[in-house]
Amino acid sequence: MQIEFVAPTDTAADGAWVVCVAEGGALSPAAARLDAASGGALARAVAGVKFTGAKGKTLDIVAPSGLSASRVMLMGLGEAAELDANRVEALAAEAYQALKTSGAEVLTVDIAEGSAELAAHAALGATLAAYRFDRYRTKEKADKKPTIQTVRIVAGDVSAAKAAFAPLSALAEGVFFTRDLVSEPANILYPVEFANRVKALEGLGASVEILDEAAMAELGMGSLLGVGQGSARDSQLVIIRWNGAADPNAQPVAFVGKGVCFDTGGISLKPADGMEDMKWDMGGAGAVAGLMLTLAKRKAKANVIGILGLVENMPDGNAQRPGDIVTSMSGQTIEVINTDAEGRLVLADALWYCQDRFKPKFMVDLATLTGAIIIALGNDFGGLFSNNDALAENLLAASKASGDALWRLPLPTAYEKQIDSMAADVKNTGGRPAGSITAALFLQRFVNDTPWAHLDIASTAWKKPSATPTAPDGATGFGVRLLDRLVADFYED
Ligand code: BES
Ligand code: MN
Ligand code: ZN
Repeated sequence: MQIEFVAPTDTAADGAWVVCVAEGGALSPAAARLDAASGGALARAVAGVKFTGAKGKTLDIVAPSGLSASRVMLMGLGEAAELDANRVEALAAEAYQALKTSGAEVLTVDIAEGSAELAAHAALGATLAAYRFDRYRTKEKADKKPTIQTVRIVAGDVSAAKAAFAPLSALAEGVFFTRDLVSEPANILYPVEFANRVKALEGLGASVEILDEAAMAELGMGSLLGVGQGSARDSQLVIIRWNGAADPNAQPVAFVGKGVCFDTGGISLKPADGMEDMKWDMGGAGAVAGLMLTLAKRKAKANVIGILGLVENMPDGNAQRPGDIVTSMSGQTIEVINTDAEGRLVLADALWYCQDRFKPKFMVDLATLTGAIIIALGNDFGGLFSNNDALAENLLAASKASGDALWRLPLPTAYEKQIDSMAADVKNTGGRPAGSITAALFLQRFVNDTPWAHLDIASTAWKKPSATPTAPDGATGFGVRLLDRLVADFYED
């Protein structure tokens, strides 16, 4: 799908049009122009069905006389004052979703022609909505395929809108990279293949280093390596560096992702029902990869480290057993009570390595860590945990601005005893009560004194069905927008 920006003068374009009606029934300037060209057809339709412009309501006018448009869809704007970037994205995305298979090849969208910034966000909304993972479909029926090839966004100042869209287009590419990685099945995307795909970021000026199992063993990463021990696929640790700050030696910020390419549970095997979902257990690493792509594409003025802990959790004659004790890179020993609590074992070494080698300003990890976060928050929020209030506040601000919603949960010292082990320094499960919190408390033991936040995105990395128009069913790309915003608003030169 192509994006074009056009001036608000062309009422003769064919294809489908989407224009807005504010609460109370007032036509937008674009709708008024189309109305005039059609001899008042739009105003008559609005009056005829008492269309009030209420939020979420649409009115479809097919083949209006006097226009070459095949249809004009009026969208209720609700209160015009609420028209911010997030709202405009959602409207453009809804417009695309409503008309994607309508037969029209061109969709012209006029939501907020006055502002270049809002026009750019309309373009982003339509772009994100048009994502499809259709690599493995060989015989989809033509009537199911989207017909829209081009989305034209009406903008008062076309060149300003194009300029405003450039960084947002980099953002969409990052989100798509994440969605592609997360959607891939585990027979295709295993740790080495994941690392290979990330290697392509070198073409954008990032550096990508890959540690294999021998290199990780050398570093003492017994916790991460134990998880991959039952897999025929080799584990990988990927280090991505984007050095965009004016001072190449300025202290970096760091993002660390859980990349379990498939989580069977290991010897603590998961039940069969729904196990296929565990192909997206690398959603944290996928988000970090997408974020790094966005930052490199838009040449962010910041030094950023991305670390991906990539493993496959399989049962096997060589697999780790419940009760095994492993030694992590930090030196702390871990009793593995449940091999299905593997994400925290991967992150324990990835986080320790990150702070040990890079001494970052902060680390944020992203992980599809616990089913319990879905029980606690449902699918509309990721869980936020942090040992640092300033970092947590910045994340919550970026969350609000980006639309990737977070809810902060506590790290109570009193719950530490749930993960005390009889035999080792710590155990990897804390029982059912506060399962997401004890998982976060476990991670906290591996961050040393670095400011750190943990995002449990098991609730948000994948949605089926999705109620968000900018995220079709499946991989959402959650985290890319959030962290791009965090970097842009707080940590760039
Ligand atoms: N990858 C899962 C968490 C998960 C569950 C993600 C559902 C997405 C949807 C994680 O590795 C896991 O298995 N966690 C266990 C932890 C338990 C054994 C302490 C869980 O949540 O049940
Ligand atoms: Mn698991
Ligand atoms: Zn997992």
